Amino acid sequence: MPVVKEESHTAIDNEFLTNVGDKSRILEMLTQTSAYIAEFFNESERPVPAEAEVQVKQFFHGLEKENDFDSVLKEVMEHIMKCSLNISHPHAMAHLHCPPLLSGVCADVIVSALNQSMDSWDQSPAATTVETEVVNWLCELYQLPQTAAGTFTTGGTQSNFMGLLLARDQYCARELSHDVKADGLPAEAARFKIFCSEEAHFTVKKSAVQLGLGERSVVGVPTDEHKKMSTGKLEAFIQEARVAGDHPIAIVATAGTTDFGSIDPLQEIRRTADKENLWMHVDAAFGGALALCSAQAEKLDGVHKADSLAVDFHKLFYQPVSCGAFLVRSRDSFRFIRHGADYLNPEDDRDEGFTNLVDYSMQTTRRFDALKILMTLRTLGTEKWAEMIGQGLRQAGRLAEKINDEPELYLVMKPEMNAVVFKYCTETSFGEREEDEINREIQQQLYASGEAVIAKTKLNDRQFLKCTLLNPLTKEEDIDHVIQSVIETGREIEIIRRRKQQ
Ligand SMILES: Cc1ncc(COP(=O)(O)O)c(C=O)c1O
Repeated sequence: MPVVKEESHTAIDNEFLTNVGDKSRILEMLTQTSAYIAEFFNESERPVPAEAEVQVKQFFHGLEKENDFDSVLKEVMEHIMKCSLNISHPHAMAHLHCPPLLSGVCADVIVSALNQSMDSWDQSPAATTVETEVVNWLCELYQLPQTAAGTFTTGGTQSNFMGLLLARDQYCARELSHDVKADGLPAEAARFKIFCSEEAHFTVKKSAVQLGLGERSVVGVPTDEHKKMSTGKLEAFIQEARVAGDHPIAIVATAGTTDFGSIDPLQEIRRTADKENLWMHVDAAFGGALALCSAQAEKLDGVHKADSLAVDFHKLFYQPVSCGAFLVRSRDSFRFIRHGADYLNPEDDRDEGFTNLVDYSMQTTRRFDALKILMTLRTLGTEKWAEMIGQGLRQAGRLAEKINDEPELYLVMKPEMNAVVFKYCTETSFGEREEDEINREIQQQLYASGEAVIAKTKLNDRQFLKCTLLNPLTKEEDIDHVIQSVIETGREIEIIRRRKQQ
């Protein structure tokens, strides 16, 4: 038998979270790490450093040698943290990407330290109970029936995929007496159709591809002037599909579109889904957080009638990436993804009353992200959390008003949530294409200079700018700063271009 030398054993003890060896090392490493994090946020003046060059190649030399942890942290600070996007900065307002709450960050540290795996109860005894209870709390929040169940996911992409997978397999079982899990796709699958608005997230199409249905199975329904799905057109498109011999299987409603934050008419969509006997999946990755705010919750009217629901916590719930949930009206629907493994989730466990959460998930090994929700709920309480969510919405409203007041800017529409789409209007001597280029350049220059991080998007093939105000700490002066930076940058680009033309 090989003899393990005492010295080498002691040397590796200190590299793990054990109760042997030098316990002060845990404290030392975590304290040093938090000190660097605090210093980074203390010193970070811009949302991104101006012209930062990321140089990490040198770290890949001499990898066989140990290094002092503090020197590793210094390298990470200088070459990685300082070159990163500071998403907590109030001038970072590009995407649906939020500043994380401290309670969520601390929960994430515990999640990593405990390193539970959510697939089976024996790998996560307390965590299984926590996730089950957080999911129950969510089902109550969205007023789903007693039959509802859910799971934590990596985010909207996975949740949308799960909703459409269950929709597909339920349709096959109910309408075609076909078992996809056992036999793969039926011949009719080539004619399956999924309906969503033209503003729905691209992951609806991506899911359709992965589900073997192809992108063409997704029918984009036009939206009204508020970017909400037109239910008249939805009904007409479903009828057309039936006449053509297609098989409508599901409708995806969006509660909070990525670009405009628009919420589809959920009640009306439910009525159509009922009439047509279709699964209704609600992508509430963005808008789901409104359920927490009493003043906003009615915008989600009808969400409780969803067959399945995607909610993201790493968007408007201010949790560290990644953290999302998928909820389903009937727990029984999870039978379509369940696979038994003797070593992990045997039938006997179920008979004996043990819950193995792998039965509800696409993943096997899975992080204990539900702890972030529990710790934030316990730390802040729903009232304070809701107040923060409401704050972002109010700021987006203010930004939109200010844009409207600026003659050089054009606001596309009053935002329903936190996303504001607008553009810089050039003088008439510049054509449409040049105006598009100038708007693109504004976004790029603001990013390169570290002045502000805003996004760009397209509408009817024209270039627009977008601000997503997810930071409750964004103040009036931050909004003014970003607006003025857009205008001044636009003016400068115009001057330079005009000079070049002469
Ligand atoms: C409406 C909507 N659904 C789904 C997604 C995908 O979510 P995730 O990035 O969490 O997978 C997004 C991402 O922004 C989104 O805006």
